[in-house]
Amino acid sequence: MKMLPKRADFPADFQFGVATSSYQIEGHSFGGAGPTHWDTFAATPGNVVRAENGAVACDHYHRWEEDLDLIANVGFDIYRFSTSWARVMPEGRGPVNREGLDFYDRLVDGMLERGFKPALTLYHWELPAALADKGGWRNRDIASWFADFTQVIADRLGDRIWSAAPINEPWCVGWLSHFLGHHAPGLRDIRATAHAMHHVLVAHGKSIRVMRSHGMKNLGAVCNLEYPIPADETPEAAAAANLYDAYYNRFFVEGIFKGRYPQEVMEAFAPHMPHNWEDDFALIGEKLDWLGLNYYTCKRIAPTEGPWPAHHEVDGPLPKTAMGWEIYPEGLYQFLTRLKREYTGDLPLYVTENGMAAPDVVEDGKVEDPHRIAYYRDHLAAVQRAIAEGVPVKGYIGWSLMDNYEWALGYEKRFGLVHVDFDSLQRTPKASYLAWKDALGSRG
Ligand code: FCB
Repeated sequence: MKMLPKRADFPADFQFGVATSSYQIEGHSFGGAGPTHWDTFAATPGNVVRAENGAVACDHYHRWEEDLDLIANVGFDIYRFSTSWARVMPEGRGPVNREGLDFYDRLVDGMLERGFKPALTLYHWELPAALADKGGWRNRDIASWFADFTQVIADRLGDRIWSAAPINEPWCVGWLSHFLGHHAPGLRDIRATAHAMHHVLVAHGKSIRVMRSHGMKNLGAVCNLEYPIPADETPEAAAAANLYDAYYNRFFVEGIFKGRYPQEVMEAFAPHMPHNWEDDFALIGEKLDWLGLNYYTCKRIAPTEGPWPAHHEVDGPLPKTAMGWEIYPEGLYQFLTRLKREYTGDLPLYVTENGMAAPDVVEDGKVEDPHRIAYYRDHLAAVQRAIAEGVPVKGYIGWSLMDNYEWALGYEKRFGLVHVDFDSLQRTPKASYLAWKDALGSRG
């Protein structure tokens, strides 16, 4: 059996966890949740593999106790989960769906009873359809709507939450969903992108203020970073990779930690920014207690003809996951050291997502996934390297507890430590699950 490093191989205060998100696992047709832009995006041909949606997903809404037991059984310290805005406020604003709020209340108690820490993400992408109708992230009012939602969650759960981050992966909310159109709402428009990327940070800052004034502690942000590598040795490729780095990796951390946006991005965004955007950095830069980094892969970037940003991705030589993503643990090490050096200093860092998809199958009641174990092992080694060099990485959270709705790729891409049969909904722990159990049980 392939092995993972043990707890004892990390500093005594280092913590391990596993992550999921609401729309990807719960089953959004249950419990009075309102419609979301992911439901309508999925119902539109060409957006999602087989037009699959989160109506049933893993049926976690009904099976949450079994799922929390699976987490406890490994010995994880942290469970990173999210609250669905549309479950709690079906219209996005106004009336609260008691049943939805009660669900999260029980869920958080269930985590505490089992002895692991609730790490909350308030928004992991299922925007209520009623707010999408009003322009969603393009509308500056979303910051106030989101602050109201934050207040509802803080009032009910704030006393028992270990850590909280407002928004999962601002880049995906902004660029992926409004420039590339790969995620809901599926726009491809530079002005929509500039607005969404700014408003997502304004909403982040407001939400932090609400939670802070409520007395909640351990507040952070979760950004996804992707390691750009110039496709060849030319200065043009280097410039292309640098631009990719600017709008993907630097935009949000520069906004939060330096109160500005990268010049390379503003060259294209400036005419499209919302009015008086420069006045928002005090809010955007609200003090944080940690930064979370979601890391999966690198990309090879080459220049191309055409409008800004005038580059494209080219195929790379390294082994790839089922997502077609090259496996590049070095990028995680590079980001951790760079974040400390250039942005976060002594602020605690967490790896809040990392993991791989594979075409796992159950045979004789077992799932062998040695590649996933190797992926985790190699990325944990990258974390250890960074720690050895003095980077304050305080925890590592794997993606994901179980196979789930992988957005535009439907149920086809399996990231779980636990296999889910999407017909019977049966859960089967994979070899990687057992490897984690073996690694974490060893602290006695
Ligand atoms: C991240 C998302 C998460 C999951 C993984 C594979 O970008 O946060 O929901 O889809 O990718």
